[in-house]
Amino acid sequence: MVPVVERRMIVPNVHVLTVEAPEVAESVRPGNFVILRPDEQGERIPLTVADWDVEAGTVTSVFVQVGASTAKLARLKAGDTIPSYAGPLGNETEIGLFGTVLLIGGCYGLGSLLPIARELKAAGNRVYALVEARSSYLVYWQDRMEAVVDRLIVVTRDGSRGYKGHVTRLGELLTLEKIAPDRVITHGCTFHMMTIARETKPLGIKTIVCMNPIMIDGTGMCGVCRLTVAGQTKFACVDGPEFDGHEVDWDEFLARREGYRAEEIEPLHRSGCESRF
Ligand SMILES: Cc1cc2nc3c(=O)[nH]c(=O)nc-3n(C[C@H](O)[C@H](O)[C@H](O)COP(=O)(O)OP(=O)(O)OC[C@H]3O[C@@H](n4cnc5c(N)ncnc54)[C@H](O)[C@@H]3O)c2cc1C
Ligand code: FES
Repeated sequence: MVPVVERRMIVPNVHVLTVEAPEVAESVRPGNFVILRPDEQGERIPLTVADWDVEAGTVTSVFVQVGASTAKLARLKAGDTIPSYAGPLGNETEIGLFGTVLLIGGCYGLGSLLPIARELKAAGNRVYALVEARSSYLVYWQDRMEAVVDRLIVVTRDGSRGYKGHVTRLGELLTLEKIAPDRVITHGCTFHMMTIARETKPLGIKTIVCMNPIMIDGTGMCGVCRLTVAGQTKFACVDGPEFDGHEVDWDEFLARREGYRAEEIEPLHRSGCESRF
C-alpha cells in the first residue's frame, strides 16, 4: 500500500497529490507519468509527475477532478493509502539546448511543466512560460514557475489577470512580448493542446504536446492508448506521451476519447456525484 502524504485542493477543482514512493522519486524524470488506483475497485489513472523529493521519497502530481476516478482521488487525505502507484512511465521530455523555449500550460499542465522548465533552464535555454486559465483565481504555482523561468505571461479568459482572452491570441502575444520561440511545449487538457498546435503550425514553431488518452496498462500491452502521429499508429504510453503536435491526428484522438462517455458518466450517477460535462 502506498501512503498519501498530502491531497489538497489548490484552486477550485484542481488538487495536489503527494505520495510516498521513494523508488519512483529516485528515477523519475520531467515528462514521466505514473499510473495509480484510488482504491481496490478503482480504474487506473495516469497522472504526469509535477514534482518530487528524493530525500523525502515523495512524488507529487496535480490533477483536475473530471469524473468518477478523479472524484475518488479528491476524497483522499494525508494518512490514507492507495493500493497501487506504478512509475515512472513513458519517455521523459527531450531536454537540449534549443535556444528559446515557450512552455504553455492550462489546467493540470501548469504543474507538470514545472520540472521541465527547471531542466530546460539548467540546459542553458531562455525559458518563458505562458499560463492560461479561465480566471485569476484558477492560476496556481505562479510563484514556483516565476522562480524558474525568464518570464511568466498570464492569459485569463475574463481578463482578471494578465492578457484577456485565449491562446488563440498566441501569435499576437508573441509579438507583444517580443518572444520568438524555437520550440513550444504544452501540457494540459486536450482541447488546449490542440488549439496551441493549430496556432503554432502557420508560425512554423515546433510544438510538443503531451497526449492524454485513456490508458490501461501503460506499458504497450493493451493498445488502448493508440493514436495516429504522422500517419503512423503510436502508443502514447511507450512511444510518448509527448509528440509533435503538428503531426497528431486530433480529430481521431478526440473521437476516441469520447468513446466511453456513457460508461464514464454512469459511475458518477451511482456515487451521487455530478459530471462536469
Ligand atoms: C499520460 C497521461 C498523463 C496525464 N496526466 C494528468 C495529470 O497530470 N493531471 C490530470 O488531471 N490528468 C492527467 N491525465 C488525464 C487523467 O488521467 C484523466 O483525467 C483521468 O483518468 C480521468 O478519470 P475520471 O474517471 O475521473 O474521468 P472519466 O470518467 O474517465 O472522464 C470524465 C470526463 O472527462 C473527459 N476526459 C477524461 N480524461 C480526459 C482527457 N485526458 N482529456 C480530455 N478529456 C478527458 C472524458 O471524456 C469524460 O467526459 C493524464 C492522462 C494521461 C494518459
Ligand atoms: S496503455 Fe496499454 S498500450 Fe498504452
